[in-house]
Amino acid sequence: MSTASILMIPPTFFSVDYAINPWMNPHAMVDTNLAIVQWQQLKQTLTHQCHATVLEVPPVEGLPDMVFVANAAIILPPLASGRERVLLARFFNEERQGEEAYFQQWFEEQGYWVEKSPAHLPFEGAGEALAWNGFWFASYGQRAVREAHSWLAYYSGQPVISLELVDPKFYHLDVAFCPTDLGYVLYYPAAFSTDSLALLEAIIPPEKRLIVPESEALQFACNAVSVGSHIVLPCEASTLRQQLEATGHTVHCVEYSEFIKAGGATKCSTLKLPL
Ligand code: ARG
Repeated sequence: MSTASILMIPPTFFSVDYAINPWMNPHAMVDTNLAIVQWQQLKQTLTHQCHATVLEVPPVEGLPDMVFVANAAIILPPLASGRERVLLARFFNEERQGEEAYFQQWFEEQGYWVEKSPAHLPFEGAGEALAWNGFWFASYGQRAVREAHSWLAYYSGQPVISLELVDPKFYHLDVAFCPTDLGYVLYYPAAFSTDSLALLEAIIPPEKRLIVPESEALQFACNAVSVGSHIVLPCEASTLRQQLEATGHTVHCVEYSEFIKAGGATKCSTLKLPL
């Protein structure tokens, strides 16, 4: 039986053509064939080891970052009728704004109701809003504005904890914070402002928090995909791995070098859908 339904987009047109975060260097070489192999390995790990079902959105030429499908939308609680519902992303950078129409079309074709917040309030989907214990933890300060969080609260009817990101290298929540299906949260404290870190640590009890050291956070260790007790990391992350294993997680590592050149990794390449 499938444990999760996960959306991915093949990296057919993936490249680093522009720089919209500090990791991206349009002059650096990206090996597209290697990227395809790495992406396939992630997909296989999710299907074979984690027993998830992977669905795919067709990639679009000229939208090289579309592979980072976590940014497409936030999955909202369904409508009273039972119809599934998403809150579509509003991209900060012009380079990615073209993705919105394709994501909207795909969700509508699948029967989802698509909610949209105002286009002038950037907020990049599930890359910036992650649920833990009935709360949404949502980021602002790099790609998103705090005002966008009110729309998430309004459409979801759930409480939203706003966290400020202060390091340009950690520009989305999902590169610094990851709730696991077993109820733990991995996070890199220095990505957050002092006040936001205090808030996060006040809400999540210490025994549920797994601190990721800087060297591992810089290898995108927080950008993990959690599927039941399984967790997939884009690097070895030995300190984190020990903590994950000690708390009952089974860790899988995949090589993801080509995508890190675009400032994204494993979790960014996935979007968990309702089962
Ligand atoms: N190059 C992409 C960008 O800067 C990477 C997106 C990473 N996605 C994520 N969910 N963290 O927008």
